[in-house]
Amino acid sequence: MDAIKRIDRGMEKAIAFATARGRPPILADALKYAVFPGGARVRPRLCLAIAGACGDKNPAAADSAAVAIELLHCASLVHDDMPCFDDAAIRRGKPSVHIKFDEPIALLTGDALIVLSFETIARECALTPELIGPLIATIGRAVGMPHGIVAGQGWESEPEIKLEDYHKAKTAALFTGATAAGAIAAGADPLPWMPLGNALGAAYQVADDLHDMKAESGDMGKPCGQDANFERPNSVRELGVQGALEALRKRVEEAVEAIPECKGADMLRALIRNEATRLVPKNLAHTAA
Ligand code: IPE
Ligand code: IPE
Ligand code: MG
Ligand code: MG
Repeated sequence: MDAIKRIDRGMEKAIAFATARGRPPILADALKYAVFPGGARVRPRLCLAIAGACGDKNPAAADSAAVAIELLHCASLVHDDMPCFDDAAIRRGKPSVHIKFDEPIALLTGDALIVLSFETIARECALTPELIGPLIATIGRAVGMPHGIVAGQGWESEPEIKLEDYHKAKTAALFTGATAAGAIAAGADPLPWMPLGNALGAAYQVADDLHDMKAESGDMGKPCGQDANFERPNSVRELGVQGALEALRKRVEEAVEAIPECKGADMLRALIRNEATRLVPKNLAHTAA
């Protein structure tokens, strides 16, 4: 089965558990709305690609890790769009959860998806209970304090933010968690896979900054210019367009070089180079070549 099918099937199953009979119907609808249709599903695809490169010995554990990671990512987007953070009305080309529903429902949707994420690992790893602890610890580290997504969002309330710390926590941590969790699920050592996640996450955030400053509004299914509006550190503001494009290129090369020697190394290198072309905003693609 291909990765997207595995991810979709796992997401459907997790959401079915959370929206089973007896649930408050509006919140149940909001959970589904926040998760389907998905975006690029890049983090769970990365997780499954690494599990595959490591032999995919425990596919159910790999699927649960991939789903848990995407649920956490979706939760982070629902909370990120709320008025107390980025106040963004559009996400994935449709009204954000707090616009379609309301703020209490958006807050609870994020909360429910976070809880569901860890519950999914616990439930789906029945055949490999020894993986539950390491997976939960690794994924928890990627999203919590002091270095995960929550910390990344927390930096926005500090009087001074360093671009690197901010990006590492806000974005790269979950990519690193995705590579590490993929390796753990396959019974492999996660450590050699973490620099790859870190470099990819950094590349991804530089690309997101380029989109925020340079994409045409509507291109990405979410508002542009948010970083300038909120005076957030942004690679383009710090490095200029050419500097940011160069940083993106460098991070992608770093990621390619960070792939440990393994059977799937060629496939992974191709996957990353391919993903990298998709990351550059269309109106800058000629300058980046
Ligand atoms: C958006 O992530 C937030 C960032 C950290 C850049 P994605 O660009 O992966 O969003 P979706 O899941 O495809 O919508
Ligand atoms: C989102 O960061 C990353 C999260 C931790 C939610 P941004 O606020 O920069 O991402 P977008 O542009 O809204 O997707
Ligand atoms: Mg934000
Ligand atoms: Mg945002």
